[in-house]
Amino acid sequence: MKYFPELLKHGIACTPRYVSKVSSSKPHSLSNSKRKSTDGDHVWKMSLLKRLKSNNTEDQKKGGGKDAIAGKNIIFVAGLGCIGMDTSREIVKSGPKNLVILDRLEKPEAIEELSGMNPKTKVTFHPYDVTVPLEESVKLMKTIFGQLKTVDLLINGAGILDDHQIEGTIAVNFTGTVNTTTAIMPFWDKRQGGPGGVIANICSVTGCNAIYQVPVYSASKAAALSFTMSLAKLTPITGVTAYSINPGITKTTLVNKFNSWLDVEPCVAQLLLAHPTQTTKQCAKSFVKAIKENKNGVIWKLDLGRLDTIKWTKHWDSHI
Ligand SMILES: NC(=O)c1ccc[n+]([C@@H]2O[C@H](COP(=O)([O-])OP(=O)(O)OC[C@H]3O[C@@H](n4cnc5c(N)ncnc54)[C@H](O)[C@@H]3O)[C@@H](O)[C@H]2O)c1
Repeated sequence: MKYFPELLKHGIACTPRYVSKVSSSKPHSLSNSKRKSTDGDHVWKMSLLKRLKSNNTEDQKKGGGKDAIAGKNIIFVAGLGCIGMDTSREIVKSGPKNLVILDRLEKPEAIEELSGMNPKTKVTFHPYDVTVPLEESVKLMKTIFGQLKTVDLLINGAGILDDHQIEGTIAVNFTGTVNTTTAIMPFWDKRQGGPGGVIANICSVTGCNAIYQVPVYSASKAAALSFTMSLAKLTPITGVTAYSINPGITKTTLVNKFNSWLDVEPCVAQLLLAHPTQTTKQCAKSFVKAIKENKNGVIWKLDLGRLDTIKWTKHWDSHI
């Protein structure tokens, strides 16, 4: 094992492939170190030091405090759906400077309604299908950043529920979220001089515990949830924070009628809706509360009119 004095100050012992926390109070043996320091060693050592320093920067502390909606510029992908529209209404009530809605649905009357709600907020709309190639998403981001100059929050909310559409489900619920996030990163990433930003991904409670009769939908949401958790861990590098919004069963057209995988349960919607649900208004209120909390890495559960956090059990650690 190789030890570097600078790293030991932080209580870290490391080899190029292994990093471990060690007690800083004890002296450390260098006896196992036979390798000579190389340029490669230097590069990873510097990278590790940088990471250690940045772990204590403002990025980690971001959240809470300042209002995350009032006066801010917000992009809401799928802001016109059932949960989307009620959440857009709640967001506008809190007075962002700009709410830019991107959706496959075109509903001019909804944009008009939102525009008339709060004189402090400008509401605009761009048609957007999250399954377009990444370059198209980047182009759209360029247009929006060209107009607004800065964006504070991106909400990714596009979703479909139909386990007959396997590729479509993954494309919308997972790849769409990843691509839209990837497209905004060059504008936010602090490594490129960006100011950072916040991402709120609408995943689902089914990402934690599947509705096994819709395994494709559930897995696509689990993937979006996992992606979001990684984004939050990457904050010290990118300056971008992220949290997931995981609604429980909310009465919308999405859950009214849908196909199970291979028709394993033809009555899945009826069975699901026989249990308590929440309304889109309740979900929207919890959503806005979570946005205002603005906490990096939180897995929010929005179920039965309540907002709670989900504690994730760590079963494994990569140690890097
Ligand atoms: N209703 C629930 O019980 C529930 C529970 C957990 C999570 N969710 C998630 O919440 C989100 C909203 O769902 P909802 O219940 O309001 O359903 P909804 O069908 O009303 O909304 C889905 C939204 O996604 C948009 N969308 C779908 N495909 C798209 C595409 N290719 N490109 C861009 N936008 C696209 C729709 O236009 C719409 O705005 C979805 O991601 C859904 O998976 C819903």
